[in-house]
Amino acid sequence: MLKKTLSIRDAQLHVVDHGEGPPLLLIHGFPLNKSMWEFQIVEFAKTHRVICPDLAGFGLSQCYEPRVNLRSHADDLADILDVLNVRERVNFCGLSMGGYIGWEFWKKYPEKISRIIACNTRAASDNPEVARGRKIAAKSIFKTGTQILAQQMAPRLLYHNPQLGSNTIQTSVEKMIESTSPDSIAAGQLAMSNRPDATSWLPMIDCPTLFIGGQYDEITTTQEMSRNAALICNAQFVEIKKAGHLTPLEQPSAFNHQVLKFLN
Ligand code: MLT
Repeated sequence: MLKKTLSIRDAQLHVVDHGEGPPLLLIHGFPLNKSMWEFQIVEFAKTHRVICPDLAGFGLSQCYEPRVNLRSHADDLADILDVLNVRERVNFCGLSMGGYIGWEFWKKYPEKISRIIACNTRAASDNPEVARGRKIAAKSIFKTGTQILAQQMAPRLLYHNPQLGSNTIQTSVEKMIESTSPDSIAAGQLAMSNRPDATSWLPMIDCPTLFIGGQYDEITTTQEMSRNAALICNAQFVEIKKAGHLTPLEQPSAFNHQVLKFLN
């Protein structure tokens, strides 16, 4: 598997670039990193060129200026494609915050997208109470630390079914959260609290779009995702059973099957 560190403006971005075929961007959620796609990269690389970065400040990617709006992450992705000499349209697959970045990417670079896969993600912006909560969380992370955040947050992201080995998954999710720097967590919270409401953009999206939700996702409900799918003329919604917010990690076979069916 080819791993690269790319210099993009003030950042050193760590990217997996694996496989050949139509390009497929995999963009992780908050406050995670590209290891959340561990069950997808090799599978999708059998038919696609998988480009899977750690967003600036997350995983192994460093940046001088923390990204406090999601548009900056979208710009980083456009630069990654330039540096990797990807000239054709890409399939954009983003989970949760990765999906919020997807709407920004579509808005600014519609000519770069062939298909969208919106996983466990919303189009609406935060209501004032949630936005206020994020701003408070952005300050308090420096006091509480990432270990406590990891212990509080990981169980909320996952559907708990001991038969699925969710303990192993929970440990790996906790590790991802714990290893993220407080600076990046704070920047991510601010960026999400300031994000625009993308709901009115959805009817303008004309590329094929697949929404994938988890049956027990507490953060992004399946009802909301299916309402959003109805706003795009060429979209469909599928629900993954026995999954929470992290469908690619929790139910990789069902997730991969749906994505490959859509792409191929
Ligand atoms: C994520 O998984 O990216 C986050 O749950 C998104 C959010 O906090 O809205």
